[in-house]
Amino acid sequence: MRDRKYSSGFGIKAGLLFVLLAVATATAVFAASGRASRPKQATPIPKAAEFTAKATPARLARGRYLVGTVTGCFDCHSEHEYVNGQWIPKKGMLGAGNVFPPGFIPLPPGAQVVAPNITPDRETGIGSWTDAEIDRALQHGIAKDGHPLFNLMPYWQYNVLTPEDAKSIIVFLRSIPPVHNALPVTKLPFPVTVDMKKDLIPSLPKNAPAQIRHGWYLARIAGCEDCHTPIVRGQQPPSMMFAGGMHFQGPFGNVFSLNITPSASGIGFMNEGMFSRTLTTGRVNGTGNKLNPIMPFEDFRNLKPADIRALYAFLRTVPKVRHNIDNSDTATLCPLDGEKHGLGDRNEK
Ligand code: HEC
Ligand code: HEC
Repeated sequence: MRDRKYSSGFGIKAGLLFVLLAVATATAVFAASGRASRPKQATPIPKAAEFTAKATPARLARGRYLVGTVTGCFDCHSEHEYVNGQWIPKKGMLGAGNVFPPGFIPLPPGAQVVAPNITPDRETGIGSWTDAEIDRALQHGIAKDGHPLFNLMPYWQYNVLTPEDAKSIIVFLRSIPPVHNALPVTKLPFPVTVDMKKDLIPSLPKNAPAQIRHGWYLARIAGCEDCHTPIVRGQQPPSMMFAGGMHFQGPFGNVFSLNITPSASGIGFMNEGMFSRTLTTGRVNGTGNKLNPIMPFEDFRNLKPADIRALYAFLRTVPKVRHNIDNSDTATLCPLDGEKHGLGDRNEK
């Protein structure tokens, strides 16, 4: 195979407006929720058990790191704008919620998805919630009043959070400025049940070494596989986990996530240094054209070196999937994901 990485680079120009990092996850999530006909086992609603998150400087720092660099809470929970070429939450509106513009996420007509205000404002945010109530939303997908949250909220990934990390996130959320910002609520024309999306959880060998275990943990709470798995007939096939092909279309361009399995058609060619430079600069190996900002490198640029090494080590263990994909090539029909993308015709079922 021609070495796509260094020949043409990536054709998509970043720097366009209105990018919503959440779209991929949103799309994926809707696809999964769209399986309305398949009966689902609703997870029993846990009681908001005693759970307290006492504020300490260490938890505050850890929470700031997790939220700002890994879990991307504010990518969804804030309206964004471009300032000096950067995609950042609107001034003074960090965590104050976000109504997803119609058409941005493929939802049936009439649907409205709102990532609520999660600032400590007592009336319009989560200032009046107990620590246990916040944790129940974060890790179990249950709102304060007991209703199940739409799984665009990645609680099904966050349920792996260690108690210390969950507490740190809560302590940090309570430290941000409260913003009074009343928003409408999510309305969906299909019923929502708590759905842990077990199909899309990458497997982890029981005896995996600590570093790989840690990489698995980070990949989940950062949502790598959610964005890097295609939607095929409304579902994300576990056999194509991390193989790329999720389609994003909007003012930011027309782009597919790439294959990050260790296959030659994926990132088999990347050593740890290249992987690190790609994640932290948004340019393949630090020198290629800038990746589309739908890939959250603006968050990932502050990842700790040990965390990047862990992610790399974990991604080396996921099953290799042969799936050629390149955003700078002419789009051709791909028999694997049914989409038209660069190098699609090089793939076989
Ligand atoms: C991919 C987008 C996305 C990400 C990332 C995300 N959320 Fe959410 N979150 C949502 C949406 C959408 C809802 C509302 C779902 C609904 O209305 O059914 C929500 C709901 C919530 C709620 C319940 C609020 C309420 O008023 O009911 C809390 C608390 C919350 N999120 C916290 C977080 C935290 C903390 C993080 C990061 C660790 C996070 N979210 C990351 C999209 C996201
Ligand atoms: C919100 C969606 C989204 C999330 C979350 C996401 N990615 Fe991506 N990623 C993309 C898209 C889209 C591209 C392709 C961008 C382009 O071609 O311009 C990409 C590209 C990449 C590339 C470049 C691959 C290559 O062959 O050049 C790597 C490496 C990568 N992602 C790793 C990760 C890792 C690791 C995570 C989790 C820590 C992650 N991504 C999370 C959407 C996402």
